[in-house]
Amino acid sequence: MTNLEEIIKFLNNVPLFKPLNRRQLELLAKRVLDRDYPAGATIVTQGKGGEGFFVVKSGKVEVVRERADGTKSVVNTLSDGDFFGEMALLDDGPRTATCIAVEPTKCYVLPRWDFVAVLREEPDMAVVILEEMAKRFRAALDVL
Ligand code: CMP
Repeated sequence: MTNLEEIIKFLNNVPLFKPLNRRQLELLAKRVLDRDYPAGATIVTQGKGGEGFFVVKSGKVEVVRERADGTKSVVNTLSDGDFFGEMALLDDGPRTATCIAVEPTKCYVLPRWDFVAVLREEPDMAVVILEEMAKRFRAALDVL
């Protein structure tokens, strides 16, 4: 199987990309970058700017939020098919949390420009992202 076919096969099984047809998946597969992170690597850092949107291909990522008083907590643990890094790209603001690979982790990364372009082209995908953001916001409110 070619690398492109492998990527399409994976993306096809990610719930976020369910609304996309074969042609759209192929366009997406051509835009994503393959990234490998060793256990312990920081993938995105709270407070820094955002360059990309991440889909976990394999491994495990902890989302760690640092409060104003310096205390930290793990707010989510993500694995195969989960996504993160959408927030800073949507409002061009700082990352809201630090995402750390807690085991060797592979991600597909969609650069900012491509992420915004795909959302404009695929409103159904934007809705799936909004639904997940609403769930995460609800869960965050529960711990306040
Ligand atoms: P972003 O702010 O770009 O970078 C950090 C990411 O962590 C963020 O996008 C979300 O994808 C994710 N994230 C932040 N806060 C939470 C939370 N409370 N629950 C789950 N995921 C979160």
